[in-house]
Parts: sequence; C-alpha cells; structure tokens
Amino acid sequence: MAQTLITIRDAREADAQGIAEVHDSAWRHAYSGIIPGQELERMIARRGPAWWHSAIVRGSRLLVLDFDELIGGYASYGRNRVPAMAYGGEIFELYISPEFQGLGFGRRMFSAARKDLVEHGYSSFLVWALADNEGAVAFYRHLGGKIVRRAYERFGTELRERVAFAFE
Ligand SMILES: CC(C)(COP(=O)(O)OP(=O)(O)OC[C@H]1O[C@@H](n2cnc3c(N)ncnc32)[C@H](O)[C@@H]1OP(=O)(O)O)[C@@H](O)C(=O)NCCC(=O)NCCS
Repeated sequence: MAQTLITIRDAREADAQGIAEVHDSAWRHAYSGIIPGQELERMIARRGPAWWHSAIVRGSRLLVLDFDELIGGYASYGRNRVPAMAYGGEIFELYISPEFQGLGFGRRMFSAARKDLVEHGYSSFLVWALADNEGAVAFYRHLGGKIVRRAYERFGTELRERVAFAFE
C-alpha cells in the first residue's frame, strides 16, 4: 500500500511554486465575498512564485506542510509588526489548502510555528484575522487566543474589520 509521508519543515527555494498555489486557492476560498473581488485578485497576483522565492531567499520564517512533495499549507511568522502592542511575536499567515482543511493540519502548523517562536524568545504572540473570516476566528478562539485589539484595514475603497488574537 502506498504511504504518504507528511512533514512540517522549513520552506526551500523549490517550494515557491507550491506555496504560491496554496496561497492562491486558500485565499480565494477564505476571502471571496469578504475582500472585494478586484482587490483580492490583485493581492493574489502579487504573491506569485517569484514573490515567495524571494521571501525564502531572504530567510523569512516560513514553514510548509509537505505531503511527499505536494505543498498542502504554509505558515509565516516573526517579530510582531505593531511594536506598541506588548507581544514579541506574530504569526503573519497560516493557510491550509481547502482540500486539506479540517483534518488537524492547521493545529499542527500552528503548534510548530508557536514552538519556533518560543525558541526564538517570543513567548507571547499575536495573530490577526479578518473579523468576517468566521473559520479563522473560530479556529484561533478554539486554540485559546483572546481578542485584544480591533482595527480596520482598507481594501481599495472599502474597509474591513480585523481582530488581533493574543497567545501567551
Ligand atoms: C483556519 C485554518 C488555518 C484552520 O486549519 P484546519 O486544518 O482547517 O484546522 P484543524 O483541523 O487543525 O482544526 C484545529 C481545531 O480547531 C477547530 N476548528 C477549526 N476550524 C473551526 C471552525 N471553523 N469552527 C470551529 N472550530 C474549528 C477544530 O475543530 C479543531 O479542534 P480540535 O483540534 O480540538 O479537534 C484553515 O482552515 C485555513 O487555512 N483556512 C483558510 C485560511 C484562513 O482563514 N487562514 C487564517 C487567516 S489568519
């Protein structure tokens, strides 16, 4: 019987295409009907393989969910981008391909990112999600996050609320 080896590991240059594909499908799935269509298309187009390749080469903290060479998800994280908020780290993005959602991989990616943040001295961290992204909000609540800030983000001419979950 064929077996698939599933690992969570640091991204490599050869993963750029696979991460861009996850980004494309997961963003469409999560944000269609939330982020205005034209803005969403623009955001997805900006994040093609070349963008991801350069993020990997720059050494950004980036984990991938690897199903025997098929990339099924990614997580990026690092220092909190809002220094006025007293949390050292931040998970910038955590996306699982739609076909692999709801199988426990989001939790595993979250735990791996959290472990790496703690090992780099960031014992507390934030994750921002759009308030209308009910799946993400439920997921971060379920994992123990507490909403500590609400803010608005502009997409073209429209505003959308986003919420910051804190993890201590
Ligand atoms: C949000 C996301 C990362 C969660 O990953 P996932 O693999 O689907 O979630 P998991 O299967 O690991 O679920 C982990 C836990 O959260 C719970 N959970 C996940 N989604 C949930 C939801 N919509 N409502 C309630 N609980 C939820 C699960 O029941 C599970 O609980 P358990 O471990 O105690 O049994 C993933 O669905 C995703 O990429 N969504 C689209 C993109 C997105 O919104 N990313 C976050 C942007 S900030």
